Amino acid sequence: MANLSSKELNPNAIKEEEKAVESNRKLKVGIIGTGWIAASHIDSYKRMPDVDIVAGADLIPGKAEAFFKKNGYENVRCYPDHKAMIDAEELDAVSVCTYNRTHAECSIYALEHGIHVLLEKPMCVTLEEAVEICRAEKKSGKVLSIGFQPRFDANMKMIKKIVEAGDLGEVYYIQTGGGRRRGIPTPYGTSFITDETAGIGALADIGCYSLDMVLNAVGYPKPLTVTGYKSDFFGKDPVTFEGHPEYADAFGVDDFAAAFIRLEGGIVLDFRIAWAMNVDTPGDTIILGKKAGLRIPSTDCWNGSTGGPMTLYHQIGGKSFDTVIPLIDDKGPSLFDRKIRSFLDACKYDLPAPVPSSQILYNQAIIDGIVKSAEAGREIEIVIPEI
Ligand SMILES: NC(=O)c1ccc[n+]([C@@H]2O[C@H](COP(=O)([O-])OP(=O)(O)OC[C@H]3O[C@@H](n4cnc5c(N)ncnc54)[C@H](O)[C@@H]3O)[C@@H](O)[C@H]2O)c1
Repeated sequence: MANLSSKELNPNAIKEEEKAVESNRKLKVGIIGTGWIAASHIDSYKRMPDVDIVAGADLIPGKAEAFFKKNGYENVRCYPDHKAMIDAEELDAVSVCTYNRTHAECSIYALEHGIHVLLEKPMCVTLEEAVEICRAEKKSGKVLSIGFQPRFDANMKMIKKIVEAGDLGEVYYIQTGGGRRRGIPTPYGTSFITDETAGIGALADIGCYSLDMVLNAVGYPKPLTVTGYKSDFFGKDPVTFEGHPEYADAFGVDDFAAAFIRLEGGIVLDFRIAWAMNVDTPGDTIILGKKAGLRIPSTDCWNGSTGGPMTLYHQIGGKSFDTVIPLIDDKGPSLFDRKIRSFLDACKYDLPAPVPSSQILYNQAIIDGIVKSAEAGREIEIVIPEI
């Protein structure tokens, strides 16, 4: 019998070794925007032995101070905005947790100052901003990763594996999207619904996830043209917000969007997304290939969930068969911890960004194209400038 090393006898030993974090090499991290999602960032950073949270910033006076105190950090230096923080501190990395409208300025300023950036989704509001972010990233040579934690879910990865294994054959049509019957996000105020803060509504907030789920699976082909539609019937109706009619006055974004998008290589993408609608679901996600089709049940994909087992529809010996793919019980670190860990590893070890801007640029180009097409009332060409 050959001599086996302890690693070969115990494959878990290899896994443990891969997981070991070099805690003697700490990264100095700052958090820009200390609202709702910043709490998830700080929770994950707390579990990372190689992170020192040293600074934070928020436009609202006293908000950053209260945030860090509540989270058990007494010595974090707080600033009135991202510029003041970046100018005063020597940071390795920042989390950009601001509302969509300030994603671009915060990320660009950080990259220009040689700081790695974990940018919350959606990437930004317009395609023009996305292009400027990508250019700043390229010039800086720093890591820029976009906060799509569903990417790290085993079931989400399975969709990509099925496509890449060729199980569907050549993909030619995708239907995706999802949404809520009533679910305009106003629990903590108006930052998701005013034009000045969010810029785009359901289309960017949850639409970016649905788009990422399928575009990532098929290798992010470049979008070419789009016919888009958006509406705001529920957001503008005071009846929607029981006890808070002022939200209807503040509402300045979309609550529903739909589009037909042509992608390079011939795939067409049929998309719809809703924060509110008079139906339980706008349909399952369907990926049709020449060899087989995949149905992903009516999707909660913004939660990193496929909503139930997927089904593969295929032919064997000329007969039709349906194969149910059981959900993978994805134990281990939370999706948020995986998102933060993979970002930190990319910063420390000079690895590619786990969710690269080169892909999310196309996601943003589609969102921007839907807005522009809806405003023009016709199909438009999506033109993405060179980075
Ligand atoms: N990945 C996820 O699961 C997830 C979940 C919720 C929200 N998000 C995203 O996170 C972002 C923030 O959402 P939220 O719910 O935390 O919003 P929020 O309104 O609760 O917090 C945003 C904070 O950013 C601050 N801010 C804005 N511009 C700033 C600047 N230039 N400098 C410093 N502070 C600034 C605001 O004052 C506010 O306190 C949004 O883009 C949203 O889409 C992601």
